[in-house]
Amino acid sequence: MAEEAITHSAEETIAWGRALAETLKPPVLVLLSGELGSGKTTLTKGIVAGLHAAEEDEVTSPTFTLLHEYGTGSRVFHGDLYRVESFHDFETLGLEDVFAKPAIVILEWSEKFPLKTPWPQIRLRLEHLGGDSRKISRL
Ligand SMILES: Nc1ncnc2c1ncn2[C@@H]1O[C@H](COP(=O)(O)OP(=O)(O)OP(=O)(O)O)[C@@H](O)[C@H]1O
Ligand SMILES: [Mg+2]
Repeated sequence: MAEEAITHSAEETIAWGRALAETLKPPVLVLLSGELGSGKTTLTKGIVAGLHAAEEDEVTSPTFTLLHEYGTGSRVFHGDLYRVESFHDFETLGLEDVFAKPAIVILEWSEKFPLKTPWPQIRLRLEHLGGDSRKISRL
């Protein structure tokens, strides 16, 4: 897969996520960074759908629930730490249990807290390029 892509619609970002999903094998942590509205959740729709863990429209922002689990048996998690305000709240999320067994864990705003796991990580940054264009970079 290319290390960098420019997409021109949400659909193109979802398609890129589907292609990325083909390359993912648990255990792996996918860390998504980028400003509000840059497309992190949209990209996650493609990844989760590409893993056959849920349909695209079942993947929504976990901003309030903080952590979604998709799939039956496949163990795909999607978290968003944006609204997690304290280290104590971060610890009550239960990520330790998530990391106890191989899974695919996709996290938005993970840079807010230190993650302690030896799992391989894939870091992706999304950037606004104006209008519906976004740049996805693998860091
Ligand atoms: N090329 C594109 N790639 C991704 N999303 C796009 C693109 N063009 C337009 N959009 C729209 O931009 C919005 C991206 O929102 P999304 O929730 O995915 O961002 P986010 O990075 O998860 O934001 P937040 O930090 O608030 O969680 C969606 O409404 C999506 O339809
Ligand atoms: Mg989001």
